[in-house]
Amino acid sequence: MEYLKRSATCGELRATDAGKSVVLNGWVHRKREHGPITFLNLRDRYGVTQVVVEADAAAALKAAAGELKYEYCVAVKGTVRARPDTMVNPDMATGAVELVAEELQILTRCDTLPFMVDEKSDAKEDLRLKYRYLDLRSFSMQDKIRLRHEVAFAVREHLVGKGFYEIETPTFIRSTPEGARDYLVPSRLYPGKFYALPQSPQLYKQILMVAGMDKYFQLARCYRDEDARGDRQPEFTQIDIEMSFVKRDDVLELVEGMMGHVFQKTLGVELPAKFRRIAYDESIELYGSDKPDLRFAMEMKDVGEFATRSGFQAFKDALAEGAARQAAAKSKGITQEGGAVKALVVPGKADYSRKQIEELEAAAKIYRAKGMAWMKVNAEGKLEGGASKFFAGETAPAGLEAELVAYLGAKPGDLILMVADSKRRVACVSLGAVRSKLGKDLGFCDPKKFEFAWIVDFPMFEYNEEEEKWDTAHHMFTMPQEKYHPTLESDPGAVKGDLYDLVMNGFELASGSIRIHDPELQKRIFSIVGFDPAEAERKFGFLTEAFKYGPPPHGGIAPGLDRLVMLMAGETSIKEVIAFPKNSFAVSPMDESPNEVDAKQLEELSIRILEAPDGAKTVEIRK
Ligand code: AMO
Repeated sequence: MEYLKRSATCGELRATDAGKSVVLNGWVHRKREHGPITFLNLRDRYGVTQVVVEADAAAALKAAAGELKYEYCVAVKGTVRARPDTMVNPDMATGAVELVAEELQILTRCDTLPFMVDEKSDAKEDLRLKYRYLDLRSFSMQDKIRLRHEVAFAVREHLVGKGFYEIETPTFIRSTPEGARDYLVPSRLYPGKFYALPQSPQLYKQILMVAGMDKYFQLARCYRDEDARGDRQPEFTQIDIEMSFVKRDDVLELVEGMMGHVFQKTLGVELPAKFRRIAYDESIELYGSDKPDLRFAMEMKDVGEFATRSGFQAFKDALAEGAARQAAAKSKGITQEGGAVKALVVPGKADYSRKQIEELEAAAKIYRAKGMAWMKVNAEGKLEGGASKFFAGETAPAGLEAELVAYLGAKPGDLILMVADSKRRVACVSLGAVRSKLGKDLGFCDPKKFEFAWIVDFPMFEYNEEEEKWDTAHHMFTMPQEKYHPTLESDPGAVKGDLYDLVMNGFELASGSIRIHDPELQKRIFSIVGFDPAEAERKFGFLTEAFKYGPPPHGGIAPGLDRLVMLMAGETSIKEVIAFPKNSFAVSPMDESPNEVDAKQLEELSIRILEAPDGAKTVEIRK
């Protein structure tokens, strides 16, 4: 039997359509029987329409209606009827009408559902992922997939309008060190050799600049074998961008314009034309993070000077230890930070219980704080409780208490939290974690507020204490800021890179940099991080070779599309905005990948799987 093809969607009928004969196709979203009358809510991507099978309908129609269950796929032919005023449903776009069924075809049936297709599923995540096609039928998921599509479209629209070419780069590339573990693909033709899936198109986009493409972008799939988190997936998408003959601010302005266009087009939200720029050091000092949530202020302050004058021995020891370590490093010519005491004022929370304070302290300890001290400001503006005895009262130096309260801007009823550490970074980051937790606990994190900022002036190198050597903080192709070029080798710790992150609401959305285009400078960077020239040649030879042929000055950036859409959708996990994500164990419950393959496939790849008596498996590859 030929099926009745739709003449309208389930989202489009209005009162003005009354009297029309139409065919709808869709899924049975809800079914209610009122005595002899059956009401159906028919759903498709566009909406829901109420269908009525009247008491006096033909027997075949009534029989078909009787058979219907949730999620049967059906075709209904009928006449549109305006609902009486009292029956209009203002919550439904089609709420002014209903379709009076004259013919009903069951196109396909649906098994017992593992969960209801609902506004928002409360089914367990693995079940939702196993039956992702059912999960994706819900309006909430369809909305997010639509938003993702619209964001991708707006990105393309903006960048194409600015003269960018979208160029695909390969997904089978040579394995090059990029930070995370590579996913490898064994070669059939060359047993023992592998392709790697790109962690990002970084080297290819730089080579495209050498190739004179000038402005490149790509919605690029990237693959990283790293532990999954809420904002990480083994495969994800970057809005990958590279530009020639640019300086840092050209890249930042391009992205500001692109974000403005995307937010305006898809959410109708106007973003500021320029985003705040915060130096990395300042971000760590004020917010204890290089991806601060700026939806609330609560800036941290340095109270080291007060601690030194106080009688708080643990704080003084932390500072002394930090100063000694810093001096020892300096004698070896290494710039290193000393210790710090950081303080945070929590407005109006002097009534926090000991338990609540302990929970905050636990957040600080995750980031290696040894503890967290606290004090309260009483109604007279005096310090009390916790560590107050070191700063106030008879044993404390005169005036210290008033000076500290004034410096912190603390008001009666406020709670003061403090972390000291011999490592400045530990003090900042651990109290920063407390600040983030407080932001959430106190309801400062409105998902409809979008606070962007650029973090700039990142350190170029990080000291690796375990290996006692310098590593690059981003990748090795990042340009050190020009003023540091003469002192790269003599003082790597002080060098700032020409790199930048775009952050929003406590997440890193994008990372990028101006790249090195001078082969001699590149060699100096390799040498500072102890990257043997022969190894550099082996791993990046193709890039250094390309750079012998007149590379242009260039730079770029890569916003993560998944994270961007996640935040725009008010979600906290990128799985919510990816049609077919992996679960937290890098498994796809729907197709059960990764999985075993046929023996023949393995044979063709010269691979053998060896199983130890304890069940552990090893893969052997014949060369
Ligand atoms: P980076 O590694 O910082 O830089 O990545 C850029 C952005 O990609 C997103 N991202 C991820 N999203 C989901 N899951 C992941 N596992 C994941 N890893 C990264 C983030 C991040 O900010 N080639 C450089 C960019 C450049 O220098 O141009 C790069 O890949 O949003």
